[in-house]
Amino acid sequence: MIDTQVFNCCGKAAENGTVLAGRIIRSGGLVAFPTETVYGLGANGLDGEAVRKIFAAKGRPDDNPLILHIAKKSDVKELWTHVPTLARQLMDTFWPGPLTIIFNRSDIVPDEVTAGLNTVAVRMSENKTALALIRSAGVPIAAPSANISGRPSPTTAKHVADDLGGRIDVILDGGPCKFGIESTVISIVGRPTILRPGAITREMLETVIGHVELAHSITEPLSDDEAAESPGMKHKHYSPNAEVIIARGSKKRMADIIRREYDAYEEEGKRCVIFASEETEVYYRGRRYDVLGSLNDRASMCAALFSKLRQYSDIVDVIFAEAIPTEALGLAYMNRLLRAAGFKVLTD
Ligand code: TXA
Ligand code: MG
Repeated sequence: MIDTQVFNCCGKAAENGTVLAGRIIRSGGLVAFPTETVYGLGANGLDGEAVRKIFAAKGRPDDNPLILHIAKKSDVKELWTHVPTLARQLMDTFWPGPLTIIFNRSDIVPDEVTAGLNTVAVRMSENKTALALIRSAGVPIAAPSANISGRPSPTTAKHVADDLGGRIDVILDGGPCKFGIESTVISIVGRPTILRPGAITREMLETVIGHVELAHSITEPLSDDEAAESPGMKHKHYSPNAEVIIARGSKKRMADIIRREYDAYEEEGKRCVIFASEETEVYYRGRRYDVLGSLNDRASMCAALFSKLRQYSDIVDVIFAEAIPTEALGLAYMNRLLRAAGFKVLTD
């Protein structure tokens, strides 16, 4: 166990925290920091030994590559072999912001970051604390989400402390994350392909670079071929201790399925909760439910998802959740929910 220091980065003392944390990164330590998506667990991205500590602290499989976080766009030049026009267009439109771009890596990127692949993922966050930390460290910061591997990603400093307190040097507390789900990951090595959907949607990307493919693994369990292309998707993800079960169908059908299953599980003595929306909560009165947001504001549902999965992880046995349409942000939401549920979907 080590003594994990927590710094509040919302107030006046913010700068002290990022300056000290930058020094810790440079000297090979681990710092958890806020981004606009989820909290990251950072180390010096050019120091293989420091990067190995991230895998140890999270219990992360070592074949799952990390994202390098930079503070200015021109820093990609050192990390990729070159900057193709497609990348330039994406960076100009969406950086800083929740988009990670994968391209061929340069020689300075350690194998520990890329898990031996010839490509490296890079992103420029829009979060002020994240940017200040990277600037203060003076190096790209390698950072996966700051959770124990397999658990829902952390969207508050408390989530980070619950998982990693005693295992890392510093937590920078920047309050709750704006988006609450991880960045969109797009590979531009071959045809542009989304490997992980996020707040920068397929529709938004296509307005800038034309047709974008979707990896099958986004909404389906992974085939062996795809495991090689997108190693992160093959591992267990976003799982609370409670079982998660999804219902799919019209609002009314989903409510029928969920009420029936809820009652059957409760009959067996299992504690249940239903993740509802403002539009569907009326179906669940008299049962235990929680409202994640409005179906007309999917950003609100995304922002709540991980936090609610954590909240109910240990206090219920079963979480029932409703499927939502996969347009725009709905794709990111369903990608996380399907993984949390181990693809268990009831349709009748
Ligand atoms: O929003 C985010 O992206 C957050 C914050 C902290 O920036 N980070 C994050 O990192 O979610 P992580 O490690 O939990 O997820 C990175 C994903 C994984 O699925 C990983 O397999 C994939 O990106 N990835 C990274 N480098 C890759 C590469 N070279 N080729 C294919 N996939 C890659
Ligand atoms: Mg993660």
